[in-house]
Amino acid sequence: MYTYKNLRGEPIPGPAQLQDLSDRVQKRVDALPVGLQDHIYRVKDIALKLAEQYGLDKERAGLGMLAHDIARAMAGPELFRRAAEFGLTINLLERQVPVLLHGPVGAELLRREDRLDDLSIYRAVYWHTTAHPALDDLGKLVFLADKLDPQKIARYPFIPELHRLAMEDLDRAVLEFLTRELASLTSRGELVHPAMVEARNALLLARTKEVSGR
Ligand SMILES: [Fe+2]
Repeated sequence: MYTYKNLRGEPIPGPAQLQDLSDRVQKRVDALPVGLQDHIYRVKDIALKLAEQYGLDKERAGLGMLAHDIARAMAGPELFRRAAEFGLTINLLERQVPVLLHGPVGAELLRREDRLDDLSIYRAVYWHTTAHPALDDLGKLVFLADKLDPQKIARYPFIPELHRLAMEDLDRAVLEFLTRELASLTSRGELVHPAMVEARNALLLARTKEVSGR
């Protein structure tokens, strides 16, 4: 049984009190560019199907998805300014490609301005671009659904296969995506985000332990 936790890691009774937050997130989404809104609604549908498949709370999965890109339309300098103001660590790659800060900045905005106090949703939004070892099933679901947007087929031609895998095993699907993406980035001589490498290592190690029964 899943234990809901707040941002201080304390157990909370359940996914209650989300309506207020949901209303505030919806207002933010309504103000986003239409193309971005379309992406959000497409991947929200995918997230709800995945939530059903895994028996995860659909309200939280939908809310995580609705919230994931609230900072995606911010320009680089604003993302930098907000990240610095929030005291977030900015790594080398994020200095070069500030759009990578939209997850962390979005999560902090929700926490600070919209009273988000659900650890799982916070982490799902924060790490939705790269994944992270701390992601739980809801976080993995948000991460995958974002990548499974059919409109991203040119960037990720393996989407149909990934979608099938995501319906079978969230961990294997995240691992598959990260392996492919890291191979693609390194083969093109691109920088890689350390959280992607950490997330992949954590999944591989968890799998090794499972196989050896340790
Ligand atoms: Fe995003």
